[in-house]
Amino acid sequence: MRIIIASHNPHKIVEFKELYDGDFVSLSDIGFDEEIIEDGHSYLENAEIKVKAIQERFPDDLIIGDDSGFSVRALNHEPGIYSARYLSHLSQQQKNEKILELLKDVTDRRATFTCAMVLSYQGHTFHTQEVVYGTIPLEPQGSDGFGYDPIFIPDGYEQSFAQNHELKKKVSHRALALRKIIAHVQYLQD
Ligand code: IMP
Repeated sequence: MRIIIASHNPHKIVEFKELYDGDFVSLSDIGFDEEIIEDGHSYLENAEIKVKAIQERFPDDLIIGDDSGFSVRALNHEPGIYSARYLSHLSQQQKNEKILELLKDVTDRRATFTCAMVLSYQGHTFHTQEVVYGTIPLEPQGSDGFGYDPIFIPDGYEQSFAQNHELKKKVSHRALALRKIIAHVQYLQD
């Protein structure tokens, strides 16, 4: 059975495919190009908004909506659910540099990545949300991955998500959430 991932982000789709050998298709694959307004007040609300928008057009499919973000403790937990829109006039590299500049004299370098996922299939929904805790290095590290990966080192490790893709596959917010979602997909299919 095909599984629609409610995202256009090619990096996310690759991560899904690496984590589970399912028949994942993206919104681009199914020709869905309507804009989805993510005006929820939480990751879960936004993930649900994405799923509902797709469900209206593809009511028979299994759909997974994902909403994620990066939060810096010393920056009042910003950018959080606004991660995609944060400092939108800057490139991602400039955003990462800006965060490092804001934290120049800050000793509390704690940060999190959060991922909410919502699965919807034949009127049944399942929600999960996972967090990975870590710290922000003094300089960007690595060039793999996307977004804020170069400025996040998960607790218990010494490399950033952009330096060690295998590490990201093992402990990332998206990997943790997807494992729960896949367990539920298997439960529904058995
Ligand atoms: P969304 O879930 O597509 O709305 O993602 C929001 C934003 O959070 C992305 O555009 C990235 O900037 C950031 N983000 C989410 N997940 C990750 C990740 O795994 N690595 C780095 N940045 C991420």
